[in-house]
Amino acid sequence: MSNHPRTLSSITLSIGLLAVFITVASWILLSYPIGSVVWNYFYGVENTGELDLPVNLEAQVQTDESKFPKSEGAGKGKDGAKSNVTVDSGNPPKCDLYHGEWFYDPGGPLYTGSTCPVLTQMQNCQLNGRPDKEYENWRWKPSECELPRFNAAKFLELMRGKTLAFVGDSVARNHMESLVCLLWKEEAPKNRGNRHMHRWYFRSKSVMIVRIWSSWLVHSTSEPFSNVPMGVAKLHLDVPDETFMQYIPNFDVVVLSSGHWFAKQSVYLLNNEIVGWQLWSPPQPQEMKVNNVDAFGISVETSLTAMVTHPNYTGLTIVRTYSPDHYEGGAWNTGGSCTGKEKPVLPGQLVQNELTNIMHEKQVTGFYQAIKKQENRSKLKLMDITEAFSYRHDGHPGPYRSPDPNKMTQRGPDGRPPPQDCLHWCMPGPVDTWNELMLEIIRLEFEGSQNLAS
Ligand SMILES: *[C@@H]1O[C@H](CO)[C@@H](O)[C@H](O)[C@H]1NC(C)=O
Ligand SMILES: *[C@@H]1O[C@H](CO)[C@@H](O)[C@H](O)[C@H]1NC(C)=O
Ligand SMILES: *[C@@H]1O[C@H](CO)[C@@H](O)[C@H](O)[C@H]1NC(C)=O
Repeated sequence: MSNHPRTLSSITLSIGLLAVFITVASWILLSYPIGSVVWNYFYGVENTGELDLPVNLEAQVQTDESKFPKSEGAGKGKDGAKSNVTVDSGNPPKCDLYHGEWFYDPGGPLYTGSTCPVLTQMQNCQLNGRPDKEYENWRWKPSECELPRFNAAKFLELMRGKTLAFVGDSVARNHMESLVCLLWKEEAPKNRGNRHMHRWYFRSKSVMIVRIWSSWLVHSTSEPFSNVPMGVAKLHLDVPDETFMQYIPNFDVVVLSSGHWFAKQSVYLLNNEIVGWQLWSPPQPQEMKVNNVDAFGISVETSLTAMVTHPNYTGLTIVRTYSPDHYEGGAWNTGGSCTGKEKPVLPGQLVQNELTNIMHEKQVTGFYQAIKKQENRSKLKLMDITEAFSYRHDGHPGPYRSPDPNKMTQRGPDGRPPPQDCLHWCMPGPVDTWNELMLEIIRLEFEGSQNLAS
């Protein structure tokens, strides 16, 4: 992927979307030349497909100020008032949780790869032989407040009698497994999974944690359509994915995420007309109106709008923003590597990734489009992890994706890096921070309403 010195996204935009698109498109062509076959390498474990959507905390929007006058939404913006009130105090803080820095915490993680039974092997970096461990110790410090360590008892208490659902791709799975691992020490849950969804039930407080796979968050079919053959995914960008929408009235908190699947082969439809495609070409020349990056933004707007206008959904929707990957010097299949990264990028030394920036921007734009249409029964918050996680090139499994003792972990004699995963996150690892942020969002939301009720 092409890295450039830090540029503001506004500058990127001023260069012109066309230029950006050409860069992105050529990167993607370079990166994924053989389409979904290679992607299955990463996503094959659950080829129903999982991708996640990021949640942007700073973009949280207050849906009902009169009811929750002091909640975080009011002061969360980038220009939110500075405050010395910590998140941990009783008062809802005016704190931007998404700008800050990583610091080394000798305390270490709250679980290990051998104490959490639900951890996917591919992200169990220590048991897969990763030699360094420091990446487990870096914690996030928002500039103006503290982000408390995850408190499992508090989470379960706040969620008493409620259901939290993760909807998305394999990074959503990563997020969910981190949460279940963090809760496991407090209480071993019961597996209540069925063929529609993964479910873990924490009996003491009647809390259900759910995961539903949705690669794109919009309706997709593989049936032949017009001149697009069977097997090529057709995404109806204006129709939300029914596989999760049918369940949402039952959920109290929904964490939506997606993004990475828009690099895969697919054809985009609006109003049943083909408007664009990715890694596919129409047999007759046709104008491409929607590229894969645009398609991502539209899918976010469609799925979020469906949630915030749903007559029977009264929950809290948290959108986790795009999770940055770190294939340096190439893409995941063209020699890109995160091998040997043992510390976070130092503040000020971040190299901007144009694809990450444009995906984030499209997602946030889709989020605000949905906010405009919301009908106040439910709430919508953004958990904006993209920038903070751009620093964590050390947090991925790299070559330590399997316990196979004979796997390649070093560059070959020709200098080629070993096959590796610089997209998902080690557990334990930086991904646990997502649950600390999520707990803060939930706490501010639910404690705020409790305070008002009392
Ligand atoms: C916040 O705390 C710092 C250090 O404790 C202090 O210097 C600063 O004046 C405080 N700011 C406000 C707005 O109270
Ligand atoms: C909402 O709930 C009502 C009453 O249970 C039901 O008739 C209606 O179909 C539901 N609407 C949606 C969109 O699920
Ligand atoms: C939602 O609440 C906001 C603020 O209270 C209000 O301005 C808006 O009109 C409401 N929207 C609907 C559809 O009721």
